Order: sequence, then C-alpha cells, then structure tokens
Amino acid sequence: MINGLIILCAYLIGSIPSGLWIGKIFYNTDIREHGSGNLGATNTFRTLGKKAGIVVTVMDVLKGTAAVLLAALPIFSDSSIHSLILGLVAVIGHMFPIFANFRGGKAVATSAGVLLGYSWPLFVLLLIAFLVTLKITKIVSLTSMIAALVALIYSIVYYFVTGDFALSILVAFLFTFIIYRHRANIVRIKNGTEPKVKWL
Ligand code: G3P
Repeated sequence: MINGLIILCAYLIGSIPSGLWIGKIFYNTDIREHGSGNLGATNTFRTLGKKAGIVVTVMDVLKGTAAVLLAALPIFSDSSIHSLILGLVAVIGHMFPIFANFRGGKAVATSAGVLLGYSWPLFVLLLIAFLVTLKITKIVSLTSMIAALVALIYSIVYYFVTGDFALSILVAFLFTFIIYRHRANIVRIKNGTEPKVKWL
C-alpha cells in the first residue's frame, strides 16, 4: 500500500508539465505548437525566452530531486522502494505526463534532478560537462546526449570503485530514455538541420 502510494506520488510529481503550464498561464502559449514541439526546457527557452526557460529548467530539475527525496519523508518511512526507483518513475512521468495527454519531454532536466538528489557531485560534474559542451557545439540536444554519456561512464567507474551498482543501473535506463527520445534530433544533427542556440 505505502509502496504503491510513494510510486504514485513520484509519477505525479514527474508528470507536472512545467513548460505547458508556465506557457499557458503566463504567455497564453502552448509550447508544443512551436519550435521542436517538445514539452521541455529547451523548447521553452526557444519559444518563450530566457526568463520562462530558466523557470521551467529549475522546475523540471526539481521534479527529479523531489521524487528521490520522497523516501525521506516521515509519512513514507515504512516504504521499501529505493530512492533511485522513485527518480526513475518521476522521469517516466516527465516523458508521459498524465496532466498533458502523456506527451512530455525528453528526460534530460528531470534526470539531472534525480542525480542531484542522489549524488550532487555527479550533478556538478554533469553541469560543467554540459556547459562546456554547449559552448563548443551550440546544440542543446547533442550536448544533452553527451552529458548522458558522461553520466553513464561515471556510473560504470563508480561501480568498479564502490561496488554499488544501483547508480549504474539507473543511469543506464536514463541514458537509454534520453537517446531514444532524441531520435528526431539525431536525424537532424546528421542532416545538419538541428538548430543552434544563438545566445552563446
Ligand atoms: O532537453 C531536450 C533537448 O535536449 C532538446 O530539445 O526542443 O531541441 O528537441 P529540443
């Protein structure tokens, strides 16, 4: 019972469609009808500008962090669900949100939030890798996939050093989700038609 409830909470937190709600409430705009059509932070930046983009990025990251930290709440003290499973469920909620007809984002920001909640040094490493790669490539989707690869390599090294394989399994799932959700971006990158950020 308590395990089902905590999983449901993680899914509902992940399902919060930040980009859709911020766009509709403050800009009267459905970002899914603009830019890449994706319900994510990048398309919010692209469609609504920096201020909305930053707010949606922070909200999408915190969804993952909040889900991982759910297990620490006294109400869920009897739960036996690993915090990383809650993070994974939140990312699934972000990709398939019940509040937005199951048409969600590409898993990047919420996955980063899961890692922030579980291992902040890994989050900082990925943030640095992300910013450096974005400065070089100017393509957010390519940068996101490279950051996911860095996370995967880190988690494998972490396993060999500590023997803890939970992080490696979680990151393997997140990496797979992120690559799969970027299928259309990969085609555009190959064709040279993927948009570049202009403000870098
Ligand atoms: O976070 C998603 C990003 O990597 C790509 O977004 O809108 O350019 O497809 P978009």
